[in-house]
Amino acid sequence: MSGPPTLVLFGAGSLCGEALIEQLSLGTPWLGLGRRQPPGTAGHQWRLCDLSDLSPEGLAAAASALPPGPQIWIAFAHIWLMAPFLEALLARQPQALAGLRGVVACSSSSVITKRFAANRFDRELVQRLNKAQQQLLDTCLRLSVPARILAPTLIHGRTEHHADRNVEALRRLLRRLPLLPLPAQTGLRQPIAAADLAAVALEQGRAMLTGAADSVVLPLGGDETLSYRDLLERIQAGDPRAAYCRLLALPTPLFQWLASPLLLVSPKTFEAVLRLSADLAGFTCVADLLGRPPQPLRVQPPR
Ligand SMILES: NC(=O)c1ccc[n+]([C@@H]2O[C@H](COP(=O)([O-])OP(=O)(O)OC[C@H]3O[C@@H](n4cnc5c(N)ncnc54)[C@H](OP(=O)(O)O)[C@@H]3O)[C@@H](O)[C@H]2O)c1
Repeated sequence: MSGPPTLVLFGAGSLCGEALIEQLSLGTPWLGLGRRQPPGTAGHQWRLCDLSDLSPEGLAAAASALPPGPQIWIAFAHIWLMAPFLEALLARQPQALAGLRGVVACSSSSVITKRFAANRFDRELVQRLNKAQQQLLDTCLRLSVPARILAPTLIHGRTEHHADRNVEALRRLLRRLPLLPLPAQTGLRQPIAAADLAAVALEQGRAMLTGAADSVVLPLGGDETLSYRDLLERIQAGDPRAAYCRLLALPTPLFQWLASPLLLVSPKTFEAVLRLSADLAGFTCVADLLGRPPQPLRVQPPR
């Protein structure tokens, strides 16, 4: 008799990976695969696997690292690593995928929000995400297993060993600067907590067990939508050192004109400055996906 499928976790050593491990109920069979053993993880629950090593030897090693029997993959490693890895594994070591029941992978809402970017860096990011999404969908189709591709907005939160790089970067900026000029009109944001993204990934994985999951790309965000300025003020509210920084609202055209020299030095940064006034929200929220009441954004206090 076969037991429950093993959860194979790629990117276990990331913020979202740790948040997911924290939510696993006791006795859930799981195994982390990656380049470094995540802190706090028992040795028997982790195996070495470099997703970027697609050599015959690397793929053979990855195949032998995978557990036997039915398994569901949840990946917080970048989709542009996961997609070629799965395709190459199918080509070289198909027997290793005999127990695969489905893949939950992480793309990014940038695939939508940066779609019409003018700078090369963002255009290439969108191309890379789109290509990887399609490659993963195609490979899963050939394997006859569902692919649930989550495309989250900016991720925030903290676990025992990890902190996000979004809210924490803003916190550092607010702590350093006495004054932060902003456009008068700041756009909407829908940050998603790492723990919420992990909960959705787990839920999507569970749906695969009942056969209720088709392949899909699912853009998603947190339950609360707020302006970029509100987000900064929320950080300041919980951090007296960040609260010293004065937010100075400038007329939006003046702010953008003052930032325009950036266009010559770094078109990517200039476009990021323009995006401060753009609405990057309106995605399906976690509450709807998990069928629970909406929860407000909680910025965790500084460590
Ligand atoms: N951060 C955001 O705001 C944001 C927004 C939208 C989407 N996303 C997506 O959400 C996911 C999680 O984001 P994150 O910022 O938490 O990611 P992250 O901190 O960069 O973590 C990525 C994970 O992938 C693993 N990894 C990287 N290269 C690998 C390789 N060659 N072989 C095996 N494992 C490898 C890393 O483990 P090791 O380095 O230890 O091997 C790490 O655990 C990513 O797919 C990201 O693209 C992030």
